[in-house]
Amino acid sequence: MNILGIETSCDETSAAVLGGGKVLSNVVSSQRCHTDFGGVVPELASREHERLIVSIVEAAITEANIAKNDLDVIAATAGPGLIGAVMVGLCFAEGLAWALGKPFVPVNHVEAHIFSPFISDEAGHCEPKGDFVSLTVSGGHTLLSVVRQSLDYEVIGRTIDDAAGEAFDKTGKMLGLGYPAGPVIDRLAKSGDPAFHRFPRALTASSQTSKSYRGNFDFSFSGLKTSVRTWLEGHDAEYAQEHLADLAASIQSAIVEVLVEKTIAAALLYKVNAISVAGGVSANSGLRSAMQTACDKHGLDLFIPAPAYSTDNAAMIATMARLMLERGKYRPEMNSYGVAPFA
Ligand code: KG4
Ligand code: ZN
Repeated sequence: MNILGIETSCDETSAAVLGGGKVLSNVVSSQRCHTDFGGVVPELASREHERLIVSIVEAAITEANIAKNDLDVIAATAGPGLIGAVMVGLCFAEGLAWALGKPFVPVNHVEAHIFSPFISDEAGHCEPKGDFVSLTVSGGHTLLSVVRQSLDYEVIGRTIDDAAGEAFDKTGKMLGLGYPAGPVIDRLAKSGDPAFHRFPRALTASSQTSKSYRGNFDFSFSGLKTSVRTWLEGHDAEYAQEHLADLAASIQSAIVEVLVEKTIAAALLYKVNAISVAGGVSANSGLRSAMQTACDKHGLDLFIPAPAYSTDNAAMIATMARLMLERGKYRPEMNSYGVAPFA
């Protein structure tokens, strides 16, 4: 079965083709037009998707070395995301499916991140075999879920304010690191001292009485943002510049420590044997190594998709569609124009 996946929920225009369950192509174009604005401008994002969607889809089909008519299923992100941006990919995908007479599968973007450890490509893959705890951390989401092989999952924690990626991006913006600042903080942190300044770790065991912490898997990063602003206001710009790497390392360790502590606590409470980390922030090298160390300590398997599948990409959308079809989660009424799958 050949599945075309399309992703346009934020600032990546992406199309991918799966053949026999494996990624045959995954073309991603990241929009550069937002850099000067310090965040994604929704209207610019939609227009850029509209400009690129045809060529990106054509590139994915060409790279997969198949003909358009060999596509069996068309899938696209149907939300959540920036609504104008989502609509570009969604309408394009539904239109293409209708024109080709193929079924259309709408995919939830966050679910696609959660199930991204199931992406399989030439390099093979290794997916969780039993239930697992998923930490999904991106620019828009911070979710802790207990995931079942049946594709059912329970969200046990989420951010009550900023997402983890936003915490990187907004504190990085205060340090003058541009957008997105996550990868820059990651790079700078490698040569910085994480103990330079202790920024707050909200809603963790160390910040709460053990009674109120127990079972609270929610996250909060807005206090970190305020704390970084207060630190910058209290020190002169030259000193801050001299210690840029130390500040980056201190911010990163505050975010990473919270993410690792809660994810491990959830895995132990729900008695699963594996953890997965997905979403753009899972590309963070500090998070990857700290989570690996913690998993080793507790005898847990760790699954983190390759960096190309961590940030927004269409391979995860096509893979989610594959899982929905294989595991009975696709309902014909999802297909708004009524083409039955595999009639
Ligand atoms: O999943 P994603 O590509 O898009 C959303 O759905 O939001 O995630 C983007 C987020 C941004 O906030 C970006 O700064 C962050 O992921 N990010 C990182 C790294 N690479 C991307 N954050 C920290 N370290 C990184 N290496
Ligand atoms: Zn995403």
